[in-house]
Amino acid sequence: MKILLAFFVVVGISFLVAATNLTGLVSNYLTAQRTREDTQAAESLAGIFGSLMQTADSAALNNRLQESAEGLDGRLLLLDTDGKVQFDSFNAFCGQRLAVPEVVRVLALGEISAYGMYRPGRDTVARMSGEAEAEYVAYGAHELLGPRGRIGALLYISRVQGMMDSLRSVQLQLITTFIVIAVAALILALFLSRVLTTPIVNLSKSMRKMGKGDLSVRVPEKGSGELRQLAENYNTMAAQLENMDQSRNQFVSNASHELKTPLATMKIMLETMIYQPDMPAEVRQEFMADMNHEIDRLTGIITDLLTLTRMDNKSDAMKVEEIDLSALTVETVRLLTPVARKRGQHLESSIAPDLYLQGDRSKLNQVLYNLIDNAMKYTQDGGEIRVSLQAEADQMVWQVKDNGVGIPAEDQEHIFDRFYRVDKARSRETGGTGLGLSIVRQLVGMHGGQITVESQPGQGSCFIVRLPRQEGGGQAS
Ligand SMILES: Nc1ncnc2c1ncn2[C@@H]1O[C@H](COP(=O)(O)OP(=O)(O)OP(=O)(O)O)[C@@H](O)[C@H]1O
Ligand SMILES: [Mg+2]
Repeated sequence: MKILLAFFVVVGISFLVAATNLTGLVSNYLTAQRTREDTQAAESLAGIFGSLMQTADSAALNNRLQESAEGLDGRLLLLDTDGKVQFDSFNAFCGQRLAVPEVVRVLALGEISAYGMYRPGRDTVARMSGEAEAEYVAYGAHELLGPRGRIGALLYISRVQGMMDSLRSVQLQLITTFIVIAVAALILALFLSRVLTTPIVNLSKSMRKMGKGDLSVRVPEKGSGELRQLAENYNTMAAQLENMDQSRNQFVSNASHELKTPLATMKIMLETMIYQPDMPAEVRQEFMADMNHEIDRLTGIITDLLTLTRMDNKSDAMKVEEIDLSALTVETVRLLTPVARKRGQHLESSIAPDLYLQGDRSKLNQVLYNLIDNAMKYTQDGGEIRVSLQAEADQMVWQVKDNGVGIPAEDQEHIFDRFYRVDKARSRETGGTGLGLSIVRQLVGMHGGQITVESQPGQGSCFIVRLPRQEGGGQAS
């Protein structure tokens, strides 16, 4: 509205200035032209009648005066030096003294000629020029010269109403144009402001809604240019927020569910023990062992959850140091070999020596541990697991390969999500919560690396971790 108002004031003022100047110019031009014409007419008539007054008789003079007046469409009067009317083309004022200013200027003040336009009121105009309903009249006076000097004055009463009418019509036209332009500008400005402000109004409405917690709102992506970009960016942001909100909710509900299951199991076992005080000692022992196992599971889940939240909050700082990745790999494999052996699995490794890397020892350790742990968990007894470490250009590449159950293609993109398990029932048996790989991916990401998986169901899986030699992709020196 403010812009609109400013627009109007500017347009209005400029037009008014232009219009006033234009009417002023036109009116000056017309008046000057008329003054010149009338003054010339009065001068030449004064010459003619000055000499006629010496020679012709009054009847002839009167006729001539009337003819000339009709020719000019005006009124002609001849006055003596006292200002008394001698001849009048209207034959009305004869013998009267006329106090017209121009006559006074010529006869009393001695000017040769004088001219003026007046608006003395309709009655006076009608009386002086004989023109009904007119408002303007002009007087042109010129001295009459005889052989011995001034003998009086000629007064030419000219009808200027026509000129004034055309001037007024010019003014009227300008006013009409102004109104038309103003209305058009108003409509245009309203339209423009609507076009400009609608997207912004939409945006601010949906922002308000979003502020109240409705993350599903989107704005229409119409038009082009900056406003469209704004709408697109806003929608992207809204979608991301919604996504984050959903995954957070899901995370919370998944976490509570995961924690509830072991608790419920333990409660059942505890209640059984309470209400059957005379249960056999071996059964009681078995229950207690199960409960101990569940408590381990709970502790494991909670540790994983804490790890994830710490990484989310970026509060888990990296303790970067020079690490002998070859030694770290050898050590982890050595630690897990007895576990594999227990299940009759072969844990083999091919580790290139002396590969160093800038990184966080315990985090990298956890990456490899989780991957080998998975490989063992999801491979049948007697299966084979191969761990390798190689250097490739400026990357270190870990591969953990097994010939276990494999992962269906449609699950491969989800296994890095929190709580995602391919086979829920089986994973519960093996104790998995679905947090291991999401922790791995986050840890690898913290080292500027990437993790990918290649797998065929029934044939096995291969997890590949690529780590840049320098922490942060070669930024550190
Ligand atoms: N080597 C593998 N072979 C087959 N499936 C695998 C393998 N590694 C992971 N998966 C599948 O991916 C899922 C997610 O793995 P992830 O390590 O995140 O969770 P988990 O092993 O079930 O539980 P956690 O590691 O938290 O104890 C697993 O449940 C399993 O279905
Ligand atoms: Mg796991």
